[in-house]
Amino acid sequence: MTVDHVSSREWAQRLSSTKIPTLMFPTPADAGVHVAHVVADLIRENNAASVPTVLGLTTGATPVGMYHELVRLHREEGLDFSKVMAFLPDEYFPMSPDCPQSNHPWMRSHFFDHVNIPEEQIQMPRGDTPLNEVQSYCEEFIAAVDRAGGIQLQILGIGRNGHISFNEPGSSWHSQMRVAKLAPETRADTAGVFGGEENVPRQALTFGISNILAARQVIIMALGHRKAEILSRVLTGEVTEAVPASILQRHRNTIFVIDPAAAGSLVDQDA
Ligand code: GLP
Repeated sequence: MTVDHVSSREWAQRLSSTKIPTLMFPTPADAGVHVAHVVADLIRENNAASVPTVLGLTTGATPVGMYHELVRLHREEGLDFSKVMAFLPDEYFPMSPDCPQSNHPWMRSHFFDHVNIPEEQIQMPRGDTPLNEVQSYCEEFIAAVDRAGGIQLQILGIGRNGHISFNEPGSSWHSQMRVAKLAPETRADTAGVFGGEENVPRQALTFGISNILAARQVIIMALGHRKAEILSRVLTGEVTEAVPASILQRHRNTIFVIDPAAAGSLVDQDA
């Protein structure tokens, strides 16, 4: 295990026993700040070259600290998001964007409402798309990503069962954006937000695994002890469709950003 000074304000331990590069920060807050600074550096570099920054974003408890820091960088340090194009890879289905449980209000209240990304540069899947139009809707959504030049940096979280976006265990590596069935453990994990598991939608719109793999860079965050068991399978196990995030072992520019609770026994293997 080595200790890296990632910047003057942050430090991380780079775990050496993992099949995907993994940086462990002392606290969830440090992890969030680090990822925000990677995003900010990319935006600044692209702004200086007058080119857009195409981001794939994510919801969930995990990225909250990252969004908080990005908003602070905008407010206090003038980070300019005007050339950012933001794509969200998933949404419950069916789901009205006006519903409090939709990913749309979540993204707006945690991020979009507080930075200067022009509205026309924000794209989030609409869970109220009629079922018979979903396939063409998904094709058009991915075509919009392609027209933007593809995702430069995709931020991800991970489900307890290894899902990425809403690609549950068993999802094909070749899967494209689609309506996918949610796993029972995913529905159980979101029951609180919906006031009971019976209210959680059974499906979601989601980027496919192949759409995620098309991103030039992926940063996947995992925080807290509830992620430790799956992380050890993703980071030290075989690539298998039973553990969707394990495919990131084959992505050439992916990094895990975790905290000690999520690292669990990986730290002992590293010592
Ligand atoms: C949801 C989302 C994922 C997210 C995962 C983990 O199912 N579709 O994108 O990464 O849950 O969420 P959390 O960060 O709250 O643990």
